[in-house]
Amino acid sequence: MDSSEFPALGYGVGLRRPHYSRVIDDHPHIDWFEIISENFMVDGGRPLEVLEAVRRDYPIVMHGVSLSVGSTDPLNRDYLGCLLELARRFEPAWISDHLCWTGAGGHNLHDLIPLPYTEEAIRHVAGRVRVVQEILGRRILLENISSYMTFRASTITEWEFLAAVAEQADCGILLDLNNIHVTAFNQGFDPIDYIDAIPAHRVAQFHLAGYSDHGDYLLDTHDHPVSAAVWRLYEYAVRRFGPIATLIEWDDHIPEFAVLAEAAEEARMRAACDSAPGLM
Ligand SMILES: [Fe+2]
Repeated sequence: MDSSEFPALGYGVGLRRPHYSRVIDDHPHIDWFEIISENFMVDGGRPLEVLEAVRRDYPIVMHGVSLSVGSTDPLNRDYLGCLLELARRFEPAWISDHLCWTGAGGHNLHDLIPLPYTEEAIRHVAGRVRVVQEILGRRILLENISSYMTFRASTITEWEFLAAVAEQADCGILLDLNNIHVTAFNQGFDPIDYIDAIPAHRVAQFHLAGYSDHGDYLLDTHDHPVSAAVWRLYEYAVRRFGPIATLIEWDDHIPEFAVLAEAAEEARMRAACDSAPGLM
């Protein structure tokens, strides 16, 4: 993958409804925004007006939740058509979705469900990603999800699965460090093993977010600040993958914009320290 295809955009935050006025009126200092693609697949109205205004001043990335690339249902061509239309209009730096499935048999579970990690599933998902990339006319990024269960049928680790899908599909990776931390805690593996196994040339973006601690398990709720453990993991990841585009995700109990902007600045500061020459 050519690194110019996925430029280091800097330190961004998710564009969320409570911050629309603040962003448009005050033009805050932030490098870029990530949008949830489905929130803008509408015929008109305020969301698209807001996005027009934001796009005039900032780079954006389109992040989807409905691709269901791991499902056995046929790919949703209508959805992909809407995604392509949105991308043509707003020219995102790239398009991403998740390495998961969200339904089967025409039923949508409205959740991101993990796959069994097998050779058969690698071939299945990679083939579908290639079709998606042909339709969209560009490489996409696939993000690792948080999970709370594993399949008995799995024959390899999640990180081996993610790396193999990315290689066979020739796509990029959006590495969510909070998701790695949450899944590692819930399933009892070392998150460093995960990061060390991911091909560096495939990784184009990081996600950082907060989780809820339920004692014997962690829940990926995106409603807390980034934890100290995830910041440490981020610093490790920057040493391995470089200061690539980094995004603060916050989707529930959304605080004032300044809180998100401060977290993005903290990522910038930590990345600057950890990507400095001589620190590898
Ligand atoms: Fe994420």
